Amino acid sequence: MRIGAISDLHIDRHKSLTPEDYLKIMVRTLQREEVDLLLVAGDVSNNYKLTHQFLEQIERQTSITVKFIPGNHDFWSTDTDLNSNEILEYYMKMDACLIGKPFVINDEWAIVGNTGWYDYTYASPKFSLERIARRKYYGATWQDKVKIDWETEDQQLSKKAAKQAEKDLQAVKDKKVILMTHVVTHPKFAVPMPHRIFDYFNAFIGTSDFNNFYERFNIRHSIMGHVHFRSKFEENGIMYYCPCLGYGREWRTDNIETEIDHALEVIEIE
Ligand SMILES: [Fe+2]
Repeated sequence: MRIGAISDLHIDRHKSLTPEDYLKIMVRTLQREEVDLLLVAGDVSNNYKLTHQFLEQIERQTSITVKFIPGNHDFWSTDTDLNSNEILEYYMKMDACLIGKPFVINDEWAIVGNTGWYDYTYASPKFSLERIARRKYYGATWQDKVKIDWETEDQQLSKKAAKQAEKDLQAVKDKKVILMTHVVTHPKFAVPMPHRIFDYFNAFIGTSDFNNFYERFNIRHSIMGHVHFRSKFEENGIMYYCPCLGYGREWRTDNIETEIDHALEVIEIE
């Protein structure tokens, strides 16, 4: 079985390409790569309706099962009729959403997914928690502060996400697991420090609340997004992937097909 994984498509942020362009190329790439199941690790768009529609269209046009977890951008509530908590409820009702619904592939394998949330532990220790909680540095504001209206603090959100993920991992504890999060769960994917900006902004990249899961559960593959890196590495028998497409302005070429092809990770399981 060939499992495709990709993240951070941001289909509504390209200066000239439309979401339909992204859809067309995604469909073509999945067919060419003979993917049987697609995993999307969040940040499809800044609007939940568009995110839903895009994932549904991929499924409809390819007949491939799509599983996803929302990213922070998929929770942005400005320009929508729902608040972020209602958007989460909306996603959890979708068949494709993995939160609270681990996907059992066969007797041996299952997929567990959760957005996770950043808990500030990836920032340089030179910043106090109060300083980070302001979410503003060098004149730049972390956009979730203005675009998301959870009424819960970030560290609390991270704990809540980890608790749900733990419950979902428990439910499939006899299986080998592919874990998918949006935020980073391994510090190797944070922006290398010291860094003028990311000594601060790494606070909003990852969480440490998932650390113990890698010892307690049979996680074999761990997919994450959010940082717009494309890389993978192995550690203690676990493969970690960051298959981000990212913004058009970050691409090395101006060819979306080349970029999607490069970002898409294919994991083969028996
Ligand atoms: Fe993100």
